[in-house]
Amino acid sequence: MTDSMAARAARHAHLRREKLAKGDPVALPLTMTSTFNLPGSPAGFSQYGRFDNPTWDAVEHVLGHLENATCVAFPSGMAAIAAVFFATLKAGDRILLPSDGYYTTRVLTERFLTPMGIAYDLRPTASYLDGGFAGYRLVFVESPANPGLDLCDIAAVAAAAQAAGALVVADNTTMTPYGQRPLDLGADIVVAADTKAPNGHSDALFGHVASRDAGMVSAVRDWRKLSGSIPGPFEAWLVHRGLETLELRFDRMCSSAETIARRLAGHPKVLSVRFPGLEGDPSHNLAKAQMDRFGFLIGLTLASEEQAEAFIDSCALILPATSFGGLHTSAERRARWGDAVAPGFIRLAIGCEPVEELWKAIDAALAAAS
Ligand SMILES: Cc1ncc(COP(=O)(O)O)c(C=O)c1O
Repeated sequence: MTDSMAARAARHAHLRREKLAKGDPVALPLTMTSTFNLPGSPAGFSQYGRFDNPTWDAVEHVLGHLENATCVAFPSGMAAIAAVFFATLKAGDRILLPSDGYYTTRVLTERFLTPMGIAYDLRPTASYLDGGFAGYRLVFVESPANPGLDLCDIAAVAAAAQAAGALVVADNTTMTPYGQRPLDLGADIVVAADTKAPNGHSDALFGHVASRDAGMVSAVRDWRKLSGSIPGPFEAWLVHRGLETLELRFDRMCSSAETIARRLAGHPKVLSVRFPGLEGDPSHNLAKAQMDRFGFLIGLTLASEEQAEAFIDSCALILPATSFGGLHTSAERRARWGDAVAPGFIRLAIGCEPVEELWKAIDAALAAAS
């Protein structure tokens, strides 16, 4: 971790204290209310639950501390992505999306933006710089891309895309601010699914938009208020609590992933491994340059769909589930969702189990899988 993120992590544990008056509860109160006591002029006060909520404010304060930017909370990662699209795009615009990123972003664009007159192109993450960015209003980056784990040079893409007049949006879901900070690399906006590692307990969906551009933040806030795409206070409270241990969990998950990726790469049943931390990975040098950690996602390919399913099902310490970033290690075959990967490709999301126990379980399941 960089010194500045270590300082942020340390201060995070005391952020709430900085605002406490004598007699206030140390833990964050959960404010469940749809409306507020509001006699007379409403200006300057909380007015209505679609406009603001003290529990959102608290989680946005923490996220803002980690992003070093203003954050706007949303009920899911997709709600955050949709907010950026709907707050910034208009008919006649053209956007660029990764062809190998999280598929729902492409489906949202095709299903709802295209009929509104917004065109899009797809490009593989590994060659995102090829072809330039002329004519794009918005360039969307996902690095590492989920699920294939290719990278692009975020600083180079941001500089070239901004020079061509585009807004640069980075989905940082796979990394969290502790692993990579796209705003520091030049992106205009970060979107993230806090459903994953930031909440970390697989019990809430959540998302946020982060930006250092006041106009952008204001447009995204207006979208939330007017569209009603608001997070529930209880989910905000859960994410606030989850964030308190993010640094600890993320550190364990990334360290374990480094150990396990290396062992998987040397395993006779594994055809190939993608992990940016492996010296032989095509993205390794770029990963070292732009990421603080290599993340906790590993892509591994087994010989067949059957072998991959048998491995996932028989491993006592792998939860067969979509999503990632929870305390428990989880895995799935991404071809089951139609991702353009081999039938035996598995996205393995390393959790917080002690690493040697986890490896023993993985090794045993690989030996049994046929
Ligand atoms: C990279 C990425 N972005 C966005 C999302 C969407 O997040 P949510 O499911 O919270 O809407 C996901 C979900 O898996 C994701 O992997």
